[in-house]
Amino acid sequence: MNPLNHVAIIMDGNGRWGLKYKNSRNAGHKAGLKTVEKIIKATIKNKIKFLTLYAFSTENWRRPQKEIAFLFSLLENFLSNRLNELHNQNIRIKIIGKKSFSQRLNKLLNLSEKKTLKNDRLQINLALNYGSKSELIDAFKKIKKNKENINERNLSRNLQTKNIPDPDLLIRTGNTKRLSNFLLWQVAYSEIFFEKKLWPAFNENDYKRIIKEYKSIKRNFGKI
Ligand code: FPP
Repeated sequence: MNPLNHVAIIMDGNGRWGLKYKNSRNAGHKAGLKTVEKIIKATIKNKIKFLTLYAFSTENWRRPQKEIAFLFSLLENFLSNRLNELHNQNIRIKIIGKKSFSQRLNKLLNLSEKKTLKNDRLQINLALNYGSKSELIDAFKKIKKNKENINERNLSRNLQTKNIPDPDLLIRTGNTKRLSNFLLWQVAYSEIFFEKKLWPAFNENDYKRIIKEYKSIKRNFGKI
């Protein structure tokens, strides 16, 4: 059976779910946050050490301002209400992406990272204002500036995901088969599952089914 150390998730389908059931995209984001909470619990239960959630991409700035503001208010409420609880559960919060938000949100994100820095039961990497291409370009710039050699080790060490093992499993919900500029370097050998259900409808049983299937796959990493 394959060990499972790191799950990465593209949580797609909030907008469509919200429009279909509540006539509001934002209601879909609110329901999506409930799924986030369920999946965090299930991740702990399965003793998985890293969970990376794609919460906001560099391309998501193209959405209407009202939707963006709602997403960030959800995030702010989630962290301010749940930070102590996450900390008490020995969960580490790490942000990947460029932290260039309001001063208040930047402060909250820094506090969340600092407070939970030493926790080691589960590390949740929240991808916020994250884009894999700009992450790679920044990494190459750092390598050049430090006059390092260009090789796999140095590139990985200069990414925002340094010290985080590559995902074993990538799940994308929402019935769409693309990577949307998410962890392009890091998923080189991940097992990828495209799930039809929209993120708010995704549940612990779906997660369990995917984990079970993942564990039974023969992972070759180029060998036979
Ligand atoms: C993609 O669905 C989802 C997002 C851009 C936001 C994800 C946010 C959450 C799940 C809630 C907040 C999360 C945290 C961690 C606090 P979409 O809106 O692109 O859906 P669509 O494809 O149906 O339009």
